[in-house]
Amino acid sequence: MKELILLKWRIKNRFGVDLRPYRGNFIERRIKSRLFSTHTDNLSQYLAFLDEHPEEYDKLAKALLINVTKFFRQEAVWRKINYLIREIVEERWRKNRKRIRFWSAGCATGEESYSLAMLLSEALGDNLEDFYPKIYASDLDESALSIAENAIYDWEKVKDVGNKLQKKYFKKVGEKYRVNEEIKKFIDFQKLNLFSSSPFKFVDLVLCRNVLIYFSKEGQEKIVSNIFDSLKPNGYLVLGEVESLPFSLGESFLPLYPKLRIFQKIRY
Ligand SMILES: C[S@@+](CC[C@H](N)C(=O)[O-])C[C@H]1O[C@@H](n2cnc3c(N)ncnc32)[C@H](O)[C@@H]1O
Repeated sequence: MKELILLKWRIKNRFGVDLRPYRGNFIERRIKSRLFSTHTDNLSQYLAFLDEHPEEYDKLAKALLINVTKFFRQEAVWRKINYLIREIVEERWRKNRKRIRFWSAGCATGEESYSLAMLLSEALGDNLEDFYPKIYASDLDESALSIAENAIYDWEKVKDVGNKLQKKYFKKVGEKYRVNEEIKKFIDFQKLNLFSSSPFKFVDLVLCRNVLIYFSKEGQEKIVSNIFDSLKPNGYLVLGEVESLPFSLGESFLPLYPKLRIFQKIRY
């Protein structure tokens, strides 16, 4: 349909987002929701609406790049992530190697990256100064990234953190809560399209959760193979609870905790 091609072309021009690897029915559903909200009946009316109301582009981008997230989303997985973080720290301590690198790929508004930072800080404890921890956190959506960098959240969000961590790592500012500099400084937020080859190397643990779900099989393969290149041998990959490893990459990862979607890069 030529209107759909035109709309995708406009999005590519405006935001640099190529919608071709996204799942067709996902794109259609999201565009339909914008047609409904703008009271337009079809794509040609919607294109005309965009011409008259350019601010609609941002709403369309928001609908396409769903940013829903929370601190410690899916608790059972985070218990295992905590265990893996402690193993990584212990191994590094034993071998007297001080670099630790994590990556939150598709970090949205930052809750996942700060959850990682809190657990890493807890695992390092008094030895924090002896290590060089770095958490890369990337997303395609600049408005989500600016919320992440701002690091200020409502109580509704922060209450999921739990009392102990909340007291230690957040400061109340008016009615809101700000993440302390002590862990914020570990995190390097960057705009990155997961289809570009990854600039991060020798990463110990990658969280790419609730991102693959939006992509076609080929799109998922490209993203996971970029992640594979970023991971160090034996590094860990965590996907979202309804996501699975693309079949073609099944032999590159060990299903360490398959129910929790935790995989380990096979050492070659
Ligand atoms: C539902 S959020 C996942 C947030 C977090 N990982 C979690 O599980 O709570 C999906 C994120 O993927 C990002 N995203 C979508 N396509 C992307 C792409 N091609 N490159 C990088 N990020 C992308 C969206 O902007 C959005 O912030």
